[in-house]
Amino acid sequence: MKRIRAGTGAAAGPAAGANGTLGGEADASAVVLNSYTEWEPLREVVVGSLSGGVFPGWQESMAYTVPEAAWRLCREEGGLPLPAAHLKAAEEELDTLADVLEAEGVTVVRPDTVSHQRPFRTPHWASAGGLYAGMPRDALLVVGDIVIEAPMSWRCRYHEADAFRTLIKSWFRRGARWMPAPRPQLTEELYRTPGGAESPAAERWAVTEFEPVFDAADFLRFGEDVVVQRSHVTNEFGIAWVRRALGAEFTVSVVETDDPHAMHIDATFAPLAPGKLLVNPERYVPHRLFEGWDILPAPGPTLPPDWPMYFCSPWVSMNVLSLNPETIVVERQERPLIDALTAWGFRCIPVDFRHVYSFGGSFHCVTLDTVRDGGPAKYLAS
Ligand code: ALA
Repeated sequence: MKRIRAGTGAAAGPAAGANGTLGGEADASAVVLNSYTEWEPLREVVVGSLSGGVFPGWQESMAYTVPEAAWRLCREEGGLPLPAAHLKAAEEELDTLADVLEAEGVTVVRPDTVSHQRPFRTPHWASAGGLYAGMPRDALLVVGDIVIEAPMSWRCRYHEADAFRTLIKSWFRRGARWMPAPRPQLTEELYRTPGGAESPAAERWAVTEFEPVFDAADFLRFGEDVVVQRSHVTNEFGIAWVRRALGAEFTVSVVETDDPHAMHIDATFAPLAPGKLLVNPERYVPHRLFEGWDILPAPGPTLPPDWPMYFCSPWVSMNVLSLNPETIVVERQERPLIDALTAWGFRCIPVDFRHVYSFGGSFHCVTLDTVRDGGPAKYLAS
């Protein structure tokens, strides 16, 4: 199947005004956005791009989640290009992933190529540059036929959704619901001052309740249920906003995780099929919602300790992508995980992805499933 770049080809749909209206009219017969779970058969997916990626400009709140070994780089090289040879290898891995998905019959779309090196500012703060368009899972949340643009709390990520706007506009023109969350101000009040005056419970997190913020990757879809973790980038205000935005059709539940560096739920839980949940054994806290589900503790990551990991932990080993309830894309060198999943009844498709790991994620992070079969069924316990 032919790869489709943002704004071109059949997946991009009619151009603005092609049918004589400003926004275009919805074509009710075409499925544009329909993704209610993490595991139903995958038909169309966005694969991110690390092209032009730069180190994020440093903020003290990032110390809660960024591995200490990378603090100096972010402090000194924010806005400067990610290491070229490693980045090139990672981009090749992303292209290979796109090829593998197409060979499995999935339509792949990619973001626009945009510059991440340009500095920008608001009346309150300045950023040396952006980051990348590598992790659409962080910036965009698809639930059913809705795409939500996340109000991310890292200042360098303020414009990150722009690289996906051609795609988002195309989805909207063809009938999807487009909901950008309230634009965050990201002023100093949002960020925790260690030892500040708030409650001991609030002391745990890097962000306060000043305004709604969340990263989309703190949410997982289970049919009519959406599960979220509170994290260093997702506050209660943000969760409340998502809950009200999604409305009565969905139930948004907060699950506790045991992760001092919590940022993104998808290296902690990976629902692979109805009743089958892969969990991070270091972070999993049992929850009544998963009563009746088989829980598989993921074998530990195989990454050597000296492998560069700028933004996340080696547990992105379990950040897999389900193509359907029997088939999963897994990193080729995660042999213990592949063996465990195979024994659990899955077909694993091995893909090399360690260079992508270095930049903050794996298969689930770098993708955004926009069309899967299925609808808002009930999968979790009440
Ligand atoms: N932030 C998650 C981790 O580092 C993905 O494991």
